[in-house]
Amino acid sequence: MSFLSEINRRRTFGIISHPDAGKTTLTEKLLLFGGAIQEAGAVKSNKIKKGATSDFMEIERQRGISVATSVLAFNYKNKKINILDTPGHKDFAEDTFRTLTAVDSVIVVIDVAKGVEEQTEKLVEVCRMRKIPMIVFINKLDREGKDAFDLMDEVEQKLGLKVVPLSFPIGMGYDFKGIYNIWEKKLNLFSGEAKLKVSKGIVFDDLDNPDLEKAIGKKSADVLREELELIREVYPEFDRTEYLAGNLQPVFFGSALNNFGVQELLDCFIEIAPTPQPKMADTRLVDSKEKTFTGFVFKIHANMDPNHRDRLAFVKIVSGIFKRNTNYLHVKLGKKMKFSSPNAFFAEKKEIVEESYPGDIVGLHDTGSFSIGDTLTEGEILEFKGVPNFSPEHFRYVNNADPMKAKQLFKGLDQLMDEGVAQLFTLDLNGRKVIGTVGALQFEVIQYRLEHEYNAKCTYESINIHKACWVDPDDPKNSEFEEFKRVKQRYLARDKKGQLVFLADSPFTVQMTQDKYPSVKLRFVSEFD
Ligand code: G4P
Repeated sequence: MSFLSEINRRRTFGIISHPDAGKTTLTEKLLLFGGAIQEAGAVKSNKIKKGATSDFMEIERQRGISVATSVLAFNYKNKKINILDTPGHKDFAEDTFRTLTAVDSVIVVIDVAKGVEEQTEKLVEVCRMRKIPMIVFINKLDREGKDAFDLMDEVEQKLGLKVVPLSFPIGMGYDFKGIYNIWEKKLNLFSGEAKLKVSKGIVFDDLDNPDLEKAIGKKSADVLREELELIREVYPEFDRTEYLAGNLQPVFFGSALNNFGVQELLDCFIEIAPTPQPKMADTRLVDSKEKTFTGFVFKIHANMDPNHRDRLAFVKIVSGIFKRNTNYLHVKLGKKMKFSSPNAFFAEKKEIVEESYPGDIVGLHDTGSFSIGDTLTEGEILEFKGVPNFSPEHFRYVNNADPMKAKQLFKGLDQLMDEGVAQLFTLDLNGRKVIGTVGALQFEVIQYRLEHEYNAKCTYESINIHKACWVDPDDPKNSEFEEFKRVKQRYLARDKKGQLVFLADSPFTVQMTQDKYPSVKLRFVSEFD
């Protein structure tokens, strides 16, 4: 197969949702359609179960599962589909944000009864800002939930999307009869008492066809005709260009658990979803169709065996072909490296791969050379943008609890930060170190892993910080910036890359400081133009 056909058959995406909306179940059903797994229950959820937050064995177990489910690849109708796992748990939101830098599109799963939930709002906001094409899947139609139109309104208002239904439910909960597939003009009915099987799909080019009554009864047929009429009046026509530009989001309805509406979603997805997209680097835009290889690290996973500190760096291939045993430039280190056992990921396993194409993910064994955001090329000096750090939500001073083990502690902290477990800030004033995390859980994870993997001990001390603001002065030489640095000296720190950060103790301080020094922009994200 030619290089171009290889690119064009790839679809790399993430599924995002609030925990429990059905992401794992949907993933599993997609894999079943791809023939990648044979039975339900094969994909382990990597979500942190409620109540398991301080059970370290559980955390370790979850880490193992999360390697296994990091990338799930399968073939379907001659398309190569790569699903990148995005943890739904809010303490791991940053992991998800970073994974979103490596996807070309996303599917958003929403629970029909719960509607738009908090985590969905946060994640969709990131996708919306980045103009990532999104498809919405409304799940659990076998249960009583919100009215379909109300739910679409909610999605538009709370998520700021512009939706167009490409399928529509007939009934809901106990009365759920099936789905009208607007995209393919087909009717799919639930069959059997247990509602577990999917009928073949009755084709209705013309909804006035009296067979519709025979299929779903007069009352449901009338309601469906009315609803579809309303859809035609209220919602725009589906326009793929608008979807790809992130301006329009198709909506599908179904029940992942019952395998209903999933194939419709998948069949439409492979037709409309984007092929591997170009990516912006600091020097230029890199097109996936370019012949020379480029890629970037979006995730690092530590080995589960504490005796071997090797890690797996997940690299998204942006352009060209990645080849085993070939020299590539690690741009940040200015060092050539080659990889003898790059891993490719399949549904349930990973194996050594000779060649990978744009859109694919390779896992590279690493002993500490990589950090998140690093770029690999064939020699060109460029660095991909868009793997930023976001301001953490929780902050604590970190202290060394064993003076004999300072070296181990710093090495451990350094490597855990490379993995993106948390962020480390060093205060300008006295060199004290502050750890910032998205969730409180990470503090325990860090302490545990320092002890078990690095033989080091740390303690924490509270510090009152609301947000880390990356400092972006309009003019680094002006007197306003000088004054800002002088007045705020006690609250200034450096992140791991040496960027200047202002640690603000309250939203009020952020606002006041911004008003007082308008030319010194305070950003909640580490990357800005
Ligand atoms: P997540 O990855 O988004 O967190 O959700 P997950 O797929 O684990 O689904 C959460 C719960 O919702 C599971 O039940 C799952 O069986 C159920 N579920 C998923 N899709 C549907 C659906 O279409 N209809 C109905 N009625 N339920 C659905 P659980 O009891 O929490 O988990 P489990 O013990 O079954 O694993």
